[in-house]
Amino acid sequence: MSESLYGGATHRRITIRDLLQAKQRSEKWAMLTSYEQMTASIFDEAGIPVLLVGDSAGNNFLGEENTIPVTVDEMMPLVRAVVRSSKRALVVADLPFGSYEASPEHALETSIRFFKEAGAHAVKLEGAQIEQVLKLTQSGIPVMGHLGLTPQSIHQLSGYRVQGREDSEAIFDAALALQEAGAFSIVLELVPAELADRITKALTIPTIGIGAGNSCDAQVLVWTDLMGITKNPPKLAKAYRNLRAEMLAAAEEWAKDVLHGTFPGPEQTFH
Ligand code: KIV
Repeated sequence: MSESLYGGATHRRITIRDLLQAKQRSEKWAMLTSYEQMTASIFDEAGIPVLLVGDSAGNNFLGEENTIPVTVDEMMPLVRAVVRSSKRALVVADLPFGSYEASPEHALETSIRFFKEAGAHAVKLEGAQIEQVLKLTQSGIPVMGHLGLTPQSIHQLSGYRVQGREDSEAIFDAALALQEAGAFSIVLELVPAELADRITKALTIPTIGIGAGNSCDAQVLVWTDLMGITKNPPKLAKAYRNLRAEMLAAAEEWAKDVLHGTFPGPEQTFH
């Protein structure tokens, strides 16, 4: 596809090649998280080229405090639902904490499950897991890297803090190493904009920013933050709607109608 990701020949799935070509023509793109059927079909219809079934499902869908407890078995039906409910987006499965770190073979085994059982098109993993990325890409599995604030390591990082203020070279070198190992893109989370800019200019693969300034090639947000559903959204997010208030009002209104006997009305009644 030589045209924009947002139009033209769009009757097929976006590929990692399309994303690399978008970088070459300096076209920015958006990635959103999705964990189920409804948001997957809406965001796909909106033309979002990449959907991430993030392990942020933990604290946005599964009721956990953070991403750490999420398991492969919990993620599998979510990935399957997003793949089945989208026609065009590239669907990326996030490898949960504990499902890839032990060895390259461990990462391959988990990724193969996401490909075979859920139909994922790529996987994402956190940190400078270079051997894992090599093994996966040599086995035909596209890999999205993730550097900076890596939420699976929040205890090691002492909380959700900006990364790369003191250790910018380590993150820069890790980005180069991930690219060298075959990663097709890298999420940069909560790093200084200047560092993200340097990395974006040094790489031939796209960077995807979240709290990393606006010179990244793409941006990602957790969908509940974008829509204003999250109760205490992180500072890096911007709510484009207030769906929490809308949904709250609708639920209250309907419950009141039930209480007063005005729902169901004649239109919802059958004889
Ligand atoms: O799990 C997730 O939603 C993520 C994004 C924030 C990049 O990793």
